[in-house]
Amino acid sequence: MTTFAKGLEGIIAAETNMSWIDGTNGVLEYVGINIDELARNSTFEETVYLLWNKKLPTRAQLEEFTKELREHYKVADGIKDRIKSIPSTAEPMHVLRSLISELAFYDDNPNANDVESARHKAINILGQAPGIVAMYDRARRGLDPIEPDTSLTFSENFLYMLNGEKPTETMARAFDICMITHADHGLNNSTFAARVVISTLSDVYSALTAAVGSLRGPLHGGANEGVMKMLNEIPSVDDVEDYVMNKLKNKDRIMGFGHRVYKAKDPRAKDLQKLAKQLATDTGNEALYEKSSKIEEIMEREVGSKGIYPNVDFYSATTYHCIGLKLDLFTPMFAMSRLGGWSGHVIEQLGDNRLFRPKAQFIGEHGVPYVAIDDR
Ligand code: ACO
Repeated sequence: MTTFAKGLEGIIAAETNMSWIDGTNGVLEYVGINIDELARNSTFEETVYLLWNKKLPTRAQLEEFTKELREHYKVADGIKDRIKSIPSTAEPMHVLRSLISELAFYDDNPNANDVESARHKAINILGQAPGIVAMYDRARRGLDPIEPDTSLTFSENFLYMLNGEKPTETMARAFDICMITHADHGLNNSTFAARVVISTLSDVYSALTAAVGSLRGPLHGGANEGVMKMLNEIPSVDDVEDYVMNKLKNKDRIMGFGHRVYKAKDPRAKDLQKLAKQLATDTGNEALYEKSSKIEEIMEREVGSKGIYPNVDFYSATTYHCIGLKLDLFTPMFAMSRLGGWSGHVIEQLGDNRLFRPKAQFIGEHGVPYVAIDDR
């Protein structure tokens, strides 16, 4: 079988029972449960448990899982020292990628790849990731690090370690919904990267490091920062029409629109849109929301027929801005959540591994003579 599919589009390269996407009708399920239901009723901790175990936890199971995760909130001393030496100009995504890799230095047996060990390593990374991001952000602002509070949820603790004060219930819940909705999404590029790396039986740290590197690209998770830059570039809602039409005329992409799988509105965008609207009103950012919904209206009119609709990044930008996050923390937030999904895929891959090794179609010449350097 030698079928060539550029970008592996349409190729089924793995089996999963974590998330399922109906791109035509805009449906996303985690382990069979609709994302809207999870966004309404679940928590990030419960969602991660669901993805890793393929069933909702009992109260006791959730307590045990949460306890283990909280035991890993504390960032390793070596990583804390390392953060002090990172230049304040470094991008948080580069910092997160590099320090997830360095967490392996503080693991007694970083290469253990049995499923149970992989699960523990995943908890170790997921637990420390918020602290890494928060501590680096504070360090670059010249502020002292805040130690974690293990009485807080994953989302509350991150906002606490970042800002030095406990978030309001509304902010913490909004942030948790962002974490739930970004946690998993089929065999997307970064998830594929994680599965490709672990399929060599490398190690969980390497697999998740690769995934963070993939996610930061502007065609993937980096698009949420692109959305915010675009919203900042548009002075007011009255300028949206000209801005979008000019971009389309120049064949530029509007960030936060289009998706390889969805040809309808991304269901996560629907959940986040409601959140963005509410938070924008609560925080006096109505103009930002109005600009976003105007862009959506024009895009639907102009390119809706091509199946180009808002994706998860479009309204998450306004949501993160209203929560008070700086622009270059948007993609790290995505990564923090997706660590849940990536880890689940790593565990799945290890449970039934086969090395990924596709082929390239050779399109070069054959029989080319070697020419000595002085004769070229
Ligand atoms: N703005 C304007 N036009 C678009 C956009 C967009 N964002 N996305 C696609 N199109 C147009 C293309 O120009 C093309 O038009 P044409 O047929 O007239 O040439 C048509 O829609 C199909 O585009 P493709 O490139 O084939 O779509 P593909 O499935 O390869 O691209 C992608 C998906 C990469 C996400 C693309 O839509 C894009 O670049 N979007 C902007 C970046 C973005 O928001 N990325 C986040 C994706 S979600 C995530 O990773 C979490």
